[in-house]
Amino acid sequence: MGTLQTFRSVVRFRPIELDRTTRKLSRAADVSDLRRLAKRRLPGGVFDYIDGGAEDERALAGNVGGYRKLQLKPRVLKDVSKIDIGTTLLGRPIPAPLVLAPTGFTRIADPQGELAVARAAARVGLPYSLSTLSTRSIEEVAEVSGGPKWFQVYTWKDRALVRDMVERASAAGYQALLLTVDTAVLGRRERDVRKGYTLPPKIGLDTIVDGIRHPQWTFDFLRNDPITFSNVVGRSTDDGTTAVSLSDYINTQFDQALSWSDIEWLRTIWDGPIILKGIQTVADAKLAVEAGCEAIALSNHGGRQLDDAPSIIELVEPVANEVGGKIDIIADGGVRRGSDIVKAVALGANAVMVGRAYLYGLGAAGEPGVDHVLQFLLQGLERTMALSGCQQISDIDRELVAWKSELPGAGLV
Ligand code: GLV
Repeated sequence: MGTLQTFRSVVRFRPIELDRTTRKLSRAADVSDLRRLAKRRLPGGVFDYIDGGAEDERALAGNVGGYRKLQLKPRVLKDVSKIDIGTTLLGRPIPAPLVLAPTGFTRIADPQGELAVARAAARVGLPYSLSTLSTRSIEEVAEVSGGPKWFQVYTWKDRALVRDMVERASAAGYQALLLTVDTAVLGRRERDVRKGYTLPPKIGLDTIVDGIRHPQWTFDFLRNDPITFSNVVGRSTDDGTTAVSLSDYINTQFDQALSWSDIEWLRTIWDGPIILKGIQTVADAKLAVEAGCEAIALSNHGGRQLDDAPSIIELVEPVANEVGGKIDIIADGGVRRGSDIVKAVALGANAVMVGRAYLYGLGAAGEPGVDHVLQFLLQGLERTMALSGCQQISDIDRELVAWKSELPGAGLV
């Protein structure tokens, strides 16, 4: 055998993928790879807005790090030839215990913005939550997505505006409302302070160098319609036509007086399920049950509001012990792998939410990047179940996980 032939028989090159995006994504093995790709494609201020958290970013690190404190205790010989990752949430079947979180200003990551994410979610049948501060409107998103959709509500001081948006969401077929309760004022995101970041991003002298270094993003940004807060366009409330600092915007427009009685008010204008997003204690989880909410999202807003807020995965079990079965529990924060979904469900969550994970995909490669991350999470969930001896979501129970700190021998090193 000639040397070349021997070489060929040993080394198998991958077929060369001609499409740049497919090529790039095929090598993105996990969410941190997508994050790296997004960092390369997006201007620094935009990337930091998505990637960053409040103050010292300990709540953000705690969300992600909390999952690493758990060990899996796999069972074997359980016949995992057929695995069903479907479950129910808010009384409806969903294909997996996974929901796409609302994220504001999604068009900063990609010109298609919320439309791209909603389409990708609909392709796999997962609920997509549209933010009040979205850059595509309630109706535009409904037009492109026949999948389940939820609408996230911030309470403007102008209650007529809130009522109007809720009515529009209802008319457009959104199934549930997520009331965000952790944003009385905006958290201090110090990366944005350092960069003087505004929304929509400004292309000014200071950002021009960044723009030149990220030509594709800058070209897309300049070529597409201006980024505005699509749901409030045309109202006297600032619609984002002029650049603002997010903290100025939220601190002047949102109602700091929001309280439990406002949930009663929300009930008078919406007859579907209400999910409180931003619950961070057992005490408030109990009050959410008393208030008659259908679900809570345990969330610290991705570590973007109060620093040193509890790590979400560490909150799941104490909350589930008190209110599990009375209200659906969604764990929002730090999920980067399918195995994280298994851990959250094992501790008592009905589902998890992801925000940054899909934004990294969107920032890295647009809509195919979101498809990629959703497949990665769903396949990871299924693989973890197979390797742990779980055929269905209801097989994932407390026996499957242990806190490493509680294992025999913990603390000896
Ligand atoms: C908006 O809600 C944000 O977290 O930036």
